Amino acid sequence: MKRILAAVFVLAFATTASADAAATYASKCKMCHGAAGEGSAMAKAPIKGIAEAKVLKAINEGAGKMKPVKIDDAAAVAKFVAGLK
Ligand code: HEC
Repeated sequence: MKRILAAVFVLAFATTASADAAATYASKCKMCHGAAGEGSAMAKAPIKGIAEAKVLKAINEGAGKMKPVKIDDAAAVAKFVAGLK
């Protein structure tokens, strides 16, 4: 049991920042913007590939009907969204 726990911790710390950003995106953005930023019934316009600064602004200040989203890794998530193809 101890060994399994240790392995889980090692994995958690070894995860890259981009994997964290992907996880945050999946839990905080995906339901409105789709798995790959392609849009959904909630937010029709695709957001994939939008400039990082613009994504960051949308996260921190909101955009139109979107309310600001409180997340710790906003910059990393903005980078992640800007990199979606
Ligand atoms: C509750 C639904 C919802 C969630 C959750 C949400 N958004 Fe949005 N988002 C919207 C809607 C709706 C718009 C379109 C706003 C408009 O044009 O009125 C939008 C617009 C945007 C835009 C475009 C801004 C622009 O200036 O064109 C970006 C980028 C964006 N969202 C990123 C994100 C990111 C990143 C997250 C997660 C941290 C997120 N959104 C979470 C609903 C959501």
